[in-house]
Amino acid sequence: MIMLIVLAGCGKRVEDSEQVSPEEKIVIKFSHVVAENTPKGLAAQRFAALVKERTNGRVEVQVFPNSTLYKDGEEIQALQSGTVQMIAPTTSKLSGLFPQWQVFDLPYAFQDEDTVHRAMDGYIGTQLYQGLSLHKMKALAFWDNGFKQMTNSQRPLIHPVDFQGLTFRVMINSNVLKRQFEKLNAHPVEVSFDDLYRALECQEVDGGENTMSNICSKNLYKVQPYLTISNHGYMGYVVITNSDFWSSLPEDVRSLLEKTLLEVTHWEREQASIMNQKDLQQIISSGNVQVHYQSEAEKKEWEEILKPIYDEFRNVIGEALLRNVEDLKTG
Ligand code: LMR
Repeated sequence: MIMLIVLAGCGKRVEDSEQVSPEEKIVIKFSHVVAENTPKGLAAQRFAALVKERTNGRVEVQVFPNSTLYKDGEEIQALQSGTVQMIAPTTSKLSGLFPQWQVFDLPYAFQDEDTVHRAMDGYIGTQLYQGLSLHKMKALAFWDNGFKQMTNSQRPLIHPVDFQGLTFRVMINSNVLKRQFEKLNAHPVEVSFDDLYRALECQEVDGGENTMSNICSKNLYKVQPYLTISNHGYMGYVVITNSDFWSSLPEDVRSLLEKTLLEVTHWEREQASIMNQKDLQQIISSGNVQVHYQSEAEKKEWEEILKPIYDEFRNVIGEALLRNVEDLKTG
């Protein structure tokens, strides 16, 4: 009789041998913080379903959405210690360990999704991937969410002066995002994603920046009556695994996971764009929110104020990555 035991919590095989035998089941715990009905939530589920089907159940990806297993600030440590095997945090949240990742947080760095993809899949992505092994991590893919928009409960945000004195929630770990609000004379406050709705509802913070899919799926628009479509920053994800776990997998499993992830990544990026448009329409039809579309002239005003952040972070992000951001702007 073959003993089929899976170690709960560590996702590794039980038997103390060098190779995983084909009879053994491999469990991959995939933890994330957003709702299921979001680009990341749906892609994680799709990845799990395809892997199950393609390995006849030999590999099981267990998805834990909505911070049910680990929250912001906990999931990276959980990955490093091996209690989960996959996470997909927003790139900003890696900045505590890897400050260069703040390149994705720079205001108005990318003019459209295509430019973001050229950054992710080109020089910037390759450079950023390399550092992760220092902390027992391996990056597997970049997923999209989309461009961030400003929301708040106090007033329409049209000119920089409208931010004056307001408090804004920022994602954990990114100093670039904090500086962005400071430059606008507002006060940034770190709030973890699982606590965001409550913090906005209780008016512990006045506003925030997020994508349509997060604003919609977490009902943030119900407590944020003012929305500015500013596309001032980008929110994307990096799918990461624990590098020890990854190298412990049999070659055939690794290759199947990589192929499947690549396929899911193409699908996820398409879905993200569709969902963000659909969710904006839903927010508009709710009638709860006054929507302002930023004009080119207003964009210039915001850009002018936020531009010095590039110089402030030149040493942190590095000349080469910043040059690449500029090169991507010109084609
Ligand atoms: C946030 O904290 O607003 C986002 O990083 C959540 C997410 O994973 O999309």
